[in-house]
Amino acid sequence: MHDIDATILDIRTLPGNYAVLTLDAPAIAAEARPGQFVHVRVPTLEPSRLRRPFSIYDADPAAGRLWILYKNVGLGTAALAALPAGTRLRVLGPVGTAFPLDPKGAPYLVAGGYGVAPLWFLATRLPRKGTLFVGGRTAADILETERFEALGWTVRVATQDGSRGQAGLVTLPLDEALAANPEAELYACGPDGMLKAVGDRAIAHGIRGWLSLDKHMVCGVGACLACVQKIRRNGVERLERVCVDGPVFESREIVW
Ligand SMILES: Cc1cc2nc3c(=O)[nH]c(=O)nc-3n(C[C@H](O)[C@H](O)[C@H](O)COP(=O)(O)OP(=O)(O)OC[C@H]3O[C@@H](n4cnc5c(N)ncnc54)[C@H](O)[C@@H]3O)c2cc1C
Ligand code: FES
Repeated sequence: MHDIDATILDIRTLPGNYAVLTLDAPAIAAEARPGQFVHVRVPTLEPSRLRRPFSIYDADPAAGRLWILYKNVGLGTAALAALPAGTRLRVLGPVGTAFPLDPKGAPYLVAGGYGVAPLWFLATRLPRKGTLFVGGRTAADILETERFEALGWTVRVATQDGSRGQAGLVTLPLDEALAANPEAELYACGPDGMLKAVGDRAIAHGIRGWLSLDKHMVCGVGACLACVQKIRRNGVERLERVCVDGPVFESREIVW
């Protein structure tokens, strides 16, 4: 893990208050694995303000570049959105556990909103292609799907207001696909309700389901216990830290 000054090289704004930042961060890009995140200090916030965690959207070790995709939802992300290219950020990473890269069946990636970020990085590293199931409240929450299609992945979209893809939750197309081919491996990132629904399906079908949990974080390095989650392993329940023991856990381990 490194704590470095990373320069914002490029900012690409997307509809729906989302943006993609390209960072010059060679030490982190060299070690980043899909599912890991970076903990970012926004320089214009007071020094006492906490860092903010963002999944690694992509990494290019040869170029020393790292990408994050974020949604402007509050104080920290609004301050981040106001920074111009050329700004230097203090970035800690890569932090946390990664998604395994050995799917036992067709990889089914399930994303809600910005949850698509670590799943894109995963799609570029998995040994086989599969299907991205992506859901959101409205069409503006459906991000970067053309990149998955260009990589040879199938994309299935669901929006709650029906403005893009099937009307309803992302579990709708996922259930259809699991009914047709239950030999899958599930990987998901998004809100808790979606993660639990995906995990329940992995358990019901007897397949593996890897869930990236999104918890409020403070230190991001395992010291403060702000991010604990109850985990059951080998029949024993205990609290684990999502920042360093996760964020990726297998469905059967999570006690919701
Ligand atoms: C491991 C991990 C990976 C993440 N990856 C991404 C990512 O790739 N892209 C992205 O946009 N966001 C990601 N997040 C969420 C991101 O960290 C929060 O949106 C951000 O910290 C909010 O900061 P803020 O100061 O703008 O919001 P605040 O002003 O602190 O809060 C604004 C609103 O956002 C909610 N919020 C704050 N933190 C979180 C959180 N961790 N999860 C859900 N809601 C939150 C608050 O409850 C509040 O409603 C990730 C979180 C974790 C734990
Ligand atoms: S955020 Fe401090 S232990 Fe996880």
